[in-house]
Amino acid sequence: MRSPLVETTARTGTATRPAATAAIATHGVTKDFPSTRAVDEVDLHVPRGALVGVLGPSGCGKTTLLRLLAGFERPDAGTVEVDGRTAAGEGVWMPPDRRRVGMVFQDFALFPHLDVADNIAFGLPRGRGRRQRVQEIIELVGLAGREHSRPSELSGGQQQRVALARALAPRPAVVLLDEPFSNLDAGMRAQVRADVERILRADGATAVLVTHDQEEALAMSDEVAVMREGRIVQQAPPEDLYHQPADRRVAEFVGDADFVCGYAERGQVRCDLGCLELRHPVDGEVEVMIRPEDLELWPDPEGESVVEGREFYGHDQLVHVRLASGRRVHVRLGSVSHVEAGDRVGVRAVRPLQPFPEACRLGLCPELSADSTAVRPRESGERTAAGPPEGPAGAGEG
Ligand SMILES: Nc1ncnc2c1ncn2[C@@H]1O[C@H](COP(=O)(O)OP(=O)(O)O)[C@@H](O)[C@H]1O
Ligand SMILES: [Mg+2]
Repeated sequence: MRSPLVETTARTGTATRPAATAAIATHGVTKDFPSTRAVDEVDLHVPRGALVGVLGPSGCGKTTLLRLLAGFERPDAGTVEVDGRTAAGEGVWMPPDRRRVGMVFQDFALFPHLDVADNIAFGLPRGRGRRQRVQEIIELVGLAGREHSRPSELSGGQQQRVALARALAPRPAVVLLDEPFSNLDAGMRAQVRADVERILRADGATAVLVTHDQEEALAMSDEVAVMREGRIVQQAPPEDLYHQPADRRVAEFVGDADFVCGYAERGQVRCDLGCLELRHPVDGEVEVMIRPEDLELWPDPEGESVVEGREFYGHDQLVHVRLASGRRVHVRLGSVSHVEAGDRVGVRAVRPLQPFPEACRLGLCPELSADSTAVRPRESGERTAAGPPEGPAGAGEG
């Protein structure tokens, strides 16, 4: 059964694409406001059944992009496509109620005078199946028994689930969520976030989640699209985004990172930390990204690196280390290891590092112009960086 609200228009001129299309996509979509280009030639691809996070700082155009998807804004250029059909652009305009797009607003936007069941039923056509779908979705969101409560009688997390249930009830092609957790206390946010993800996945829904919170985006999404100044600069699975960011600004936006310049050849880079493996081979001057968990340290009274301080977080700690060169790097350490400011340590990378050759090509690595031994090409036969002392088994052999 399909409701009139969720049918799509089969207009003449509507472009259709092969079956394996995205649930929702944009092609070069652009939106200008009088003083700013809010969305700038965005290509967004949301595969069916996926949860795609749109991550970016305040003002980068996230809400405008969602409003373009939903049909609350008309693009100045480019197209929006829902289920393989053009919904906006190329002379086509499908209004919001014909797009099969559900929306969860930041403030939930529930009807205060309607109870839970009626809020959820609101967008569904009358007739057989309506009550059944309402009951089914109420159970899915864990609100059985609260059917007749008013929104004011519910907690923030419960109101959120009503808003989600209302959006999911008509089985939309995609649900759009705009900063859905920003109105919740920090204390309940993690739980509500987990609930929302479980509900979306249990319903097999496709969703676009807009957030400025990198942890939220990485934890919930199958893919994250990073937005900056109206553009999507990278769309990738969370692990790829974190370990292989497209550029330094993405790297910094999705986590802690230090950047070290060096000279690369034969898949390695020579830098202040010694000779380190690269994720992929490049030659010449490069900047490499070092996440705190890419490094390990060990106590070494003879070590040339010194602990300058640490931040203890409970589940782990971030140790500030000054290398022999004077450069400061950060090392993520488990919560039970103990180091103190002033301790001498050895430091090494435990995995290949992501190189950014571009920064150096653009002359953004000031230290490369200095006469630094750290960045000269490696001489043949030179040893790579030393590691921690071997354990008893390793030390006893050979
Ligand atoms: N209706 C509007 N009229 C004029 N400018 C707008 C309007 N909506 C958004 N903007 C501007 O567009 C840019 C992007 O805004 P928005 O999409 O709300 O960003 P975000 O949701 O990422 O914070 C901002 O500079 C904002 O001021
Ligand atoms: Mg916004």
